[in-house]
Amino acid sequence: MKNLIAGNWKMNGNLSDAVNLAQNIVQIIQNEPQLLEKNDFLICPPYHHLVPVQAELSMAVSIGGQDCSPFDNGAYTGDISAEMLKDANCSSVILGHSERRQYYLESNMFIRQKAMMANEQGLTSIICVGETEEQREAGEEQDVVVAQMLESLPETATTENTVIAYEPVWAIGTGKIPTIEDITAMHDFIRSKLSEKLENANKVRILYGGSVKPANAAEIFAVENVNGALIGGASLKAEDFIGIAKAS
Ligand code: 13P
Repeated sequence: MKNLIAGNWKMNGNLSDAVNLAQNIVQIIQNEPQLLEKNDFLICPPYHHLVPVQAELSMAVSIGGQDCSPFDNGAYTGDISAEMLKDANCSSVILGHSERRQYYLESNMFIRQKAMMANEQGLTSIICVGETEEQREAGEEQDVVVAQMLESLPETATTENTVIAYEPVWAIGTGKIPTIEDITAMHDFIRSKLSEKLENANKVRILYGGSVKPANAAEIFAVENVNGALIGGASLKAEDFIGIAKAS
């Protein structure tokens, strides 16, 4: 399976930054098409940058949302529906990111409802899971991750429309990553629990996220059950984003 190199741009940059970044990423991939042999690329800009950024993308890079509403279209001020993401040519949507769980108190049930909406529109749900530092110190990381994952996955989840992103909260934006042994153990565990829920769970991509950089990507990608990365800070520079893909 190819690695999925996914950039979560979060709430950064203005429109010209976003368009320039997309142009630079496409340019590098056009100059180095061998990158596509081992990688699929996805970028997730802020909502109002989706359409102008999409206009810059070639077939080689797909686009996704950073979240979607758990509701259909209608009177939900501030929300964006899965149908709107689809209409903006999105292939995927990130759901249940720890920043949404932390700042907007999103529950697993809420995320599950969002994933159902996404799946209904034919979008791939990238469901994020991960423990806090306190939970890891207490040895609870597997319990936390399995509960988040199984409770967030809707009945409509399939191997084709689901990606899991393991992002330890304490590794996001901190420069810290778990040991390779800990990443291996968690990704193996996620794979085994997924197989209790989904047929052909070995085909589901499990991404690692949290302080992925060109310098640490090779050792992370060498882990058997790591099938790509969800990248925050380093996805905001085309050279770093592509540098991570080169480690595949
Ligand atoms: P960083 O790569 O900045 O640590 O962010 C990871 C992340 O939250 C991606 O969703």
